[in-house]
Amino acid sequence: MEAVLTRHLDAHAPLSLQAYQAAGGYHSLDAAFDHKPEEIIAIVEAANLRGRGGAGFSCGLKWRLRGADAPRPRYLVCNIDESEPGTFKDRHLLYGGPHQIIEAVIVSAYALQAEQVVIFVRGEYGKGGHGLKRAIEEAEKAGLVGSNIKGSGFNLQIKVHLSGGRYICGEETAMLNAIEGRRPNPRHKIPRPSVKGLWQHPTTINNVETLVNVPHILLNGADWFRALGINGGCGPKLFCVSGMVQHPGLFELPCGTPARELIFEHAGGLAAGRTLQGFIPGGASTAFLLPEHLDVPMDFDPVAKAGSRLGTAAIIVLDDTTCPVQATLNLMRFFARESCGFCTPCRDGLPYLAQILTAIADGEGRAEDLILMEELCNTIGPQSFCAFAPGAVMPLTSSLQCFRDHYESHIATGRCPFDAANKSGA
Ligand SMILES: Cc1cc2nc3c(=O)[nH]c(=O)nc-3n(C[C@H](O)[C@H](O)[C@H](O)COP(=O)(O)O)c2cc1C
Ligand code: SF4
Repeated sequence: MEAVLTRHLDAHAPLSLQAYQAAGGYHSLDAAFDHKPEEIIAIVEAANLRGRGGAGFSCGLKWRLRGADAPRPRYLVCNIDESEPGTFKDRHLLYGGPHQIIEAVIVSAYALQAEQVVIFVRGEYGKGGHGLKRAIEEAEKAGLVGSNIKGSGFNLQIKVHLSGGRYICGEETAMLNAIEGRRPNPRHKIPRPSVKGLWQHPTTINNVETLVNVPHILLNGADWFRALGINGGCGPKLFCVSGMVQHPGLFELPCGTPARELIFEHAGGLAAGRTLQGFIPGGASTAFLLPEHLDVPMDFDPVAKAGSRLGTAAIIVLDDTTCPVQATLNLMRFFARESCGFCTPCRDGLPYLAQILTAIADGEGRAEDLILMEELCNTIGPQSFCAFAPGAVMPLTSSLQCFRDHYESHIATGRCPFDAANKSGA
């Protein structure tokens, strides 16, 4: 598949406005203004563009459900918070091609008839955020952002909000609080942000990778987009592969590409003599999969059927020298630290899980710890306020199932077998 989303990306020298326009950039604006907003929404829905932020909800359906008669002002929030461990796709889009993002939010905001866009950028991506601001100024000067864009009668303001820097800010309702200058705790989902979002006005939130597909869909059509995917997937997809592979990196491939191809062809496979122990398919908050799942198409429904989530499509690979207990502990420490602290099961339960796991990893675990951890995972997820906690316990729940013998061995022998094997070079 020819690159679509990464075609013009260059993190060292992103295209200027003129260069981007010369390469075909911003052409979708004319196409957009030739359509009625609801026609664009129908095309995006027909393309089956599913949200790339993690949940895979249909973008066109989300836009249609907001309703054409939603009161004004309306907001579109573009999510570039990207704090999920293992995930670095949105960073490439931000640093490599700010004008692609601006074009995408203009066309999307027109479809939604939203007159305000806020682009929420991860705090650590400050340089990319500043590059984006400069590109917005360029676009404003050229009349592509502002009043009566290209004589269409459509007015749009775009603001960049640099995050204070917490994982929870990526959750859409916490993000709304963050933009409003409040503590970024998640909000109740009812009423939904599409009804009462930013400053109580109708707000649509989408991941940046979702949005950058929209101009291409508009220019090339829904059928073209669907045909780009394979194995039932639709469109191009950005995959991150990291961990114990020879060539970790970002790969733009058809949605539905099997994990085997991603790991062993594009990411160069494992080091000589190593074998695959397992992999996380969609960033830290998704369940482990095993070698038997290598042929599962990396698309939302097949990965869910295999017992995990496509999430952010960030594959993290464990080979036979990686201790799955230590790897899981690493993730649990992250989630324990990143709990926003608003509700008790998550705030107190995650550090407790990390504490038990630390004891096991240090060779001080007890046989009853495994059942205790399972019970805690089963309680913390459902009893917490937002989707952070169910995601946080997912790698542990699955690790206890997939790699149980390793946990039992740590407890029985009082040591990590991988420490000894790695030290002896075995
Ligand atoms: C704890 C948590 C963190 C999240 N972080 C991000 C994030 O960094 N980027 C993102 O796009 N979506 C993130 N999401 C999902 C958003 O809440 C939201 O569903 C998404 O931005 C919608 O965009 P999409 O429909 O285009 O996928 C997160 C969700 C949760 C529960
Ligand atoms: S589940 Fe965790 S992140 Fe979500 S509101 Fe409760 S404490 Fe905050």
